[in-house]
Amino acid sequence: MLLLKFGGSVITNKKKRDKIFREDTASRLIEELKLGLAVFRDNRAILVHGAGSFGHILAREHSIHRGNLGGGDYLTIVPRIRRDMRRLNHFVEKLLLEKGFHPISLPPEAVLYKEGEGIITPIPQGIAAMISFLQEGFMPVLFGDVIADKDLGFSICSGDDVMKVLSYLDEVERIIFVTAVDGIIGKNSNGTRGENIRENSPSGLLRDIFISNDDEVADVTGSMYGKAERIAEMAAGKEVLLINGNVPGRLESAVKGEPVIGTLIRT
Ligand code: IPE
Repeated sequence: MLLLKFGGSVITNKKKRDKIFREDTASRLIEELKLGLAVFRDNRAILVHGAGSFGHILAREHSIHRGNLGGGDYLTIVPRIRRDMRRLNHFVEKLLLEKGFHPISLPPEAVLYKEGEGIITPIPQGIAAMISFLQEGFMPVLFGDVIADKDLGFSICSGDDVMKVLSYLDEVERIIFVTAVDGIIGKNSNGTRGENIRENSPSGLLRDIFISNDDEVADVTGSMYGKAERIAEMAAGKEVLLINGNVPGRLESAVKGEPVIGTLIRT
């Protein structure tokens, strides 16, 4: 089974305030997924999507990732973000239906539980329920959102958090992050920006990644370094591939297991 995430920077314009769904791009990616899955071993996938401008902008402006410590007008803001995320999920779901998929949308709190910064616990019953849908031929579709948090009252659960929890499922063979970049940027020996990392181990990734402030585009979930940390922590022995979804054909090749430009992380 394939586990993949459509990053918010691909299916929305993450830099802009206006919440515009990039329908053409999302539609092409779903088409590519379909073509790829047609030849992928068991044709099954779990799709996760991020927030982009539908979640990050308001969340950052009101420090929602800090939960009730953020101090802002969260009673107004949290419901707005949750509504916007459901709207984005609805757009994705609609396209999936139009392309012949059988999506079942599930919120992140169906499969995981948060207790303060970084402590995420899977919910076995919710995951078992998700697997039941999968076994019947449906495709679970999950997304990042503001969720309840035992310590902070509420906080942000990113799509990457959902990916991490689901990466441990035995059924998951391949993990793909569809992003807006060609790969994770590496650093030269003097610490300056280097080439994209083509292939590395989880620990090598964290050692070699170039940390830049430029990619902090309205992101409350840790940007590329946060993503790299989650990728590095993902289930050992599984291959994780990060590709650019803005380039036509790459997702299809990645799903089919063909060589593709991107960053491949494996132990
Ligand atoms: C963030 O999810 C969720 C909210 C801000 C509500 P992600 O962190 O997975 O979103 P993208 O993919 O970076 O946009």
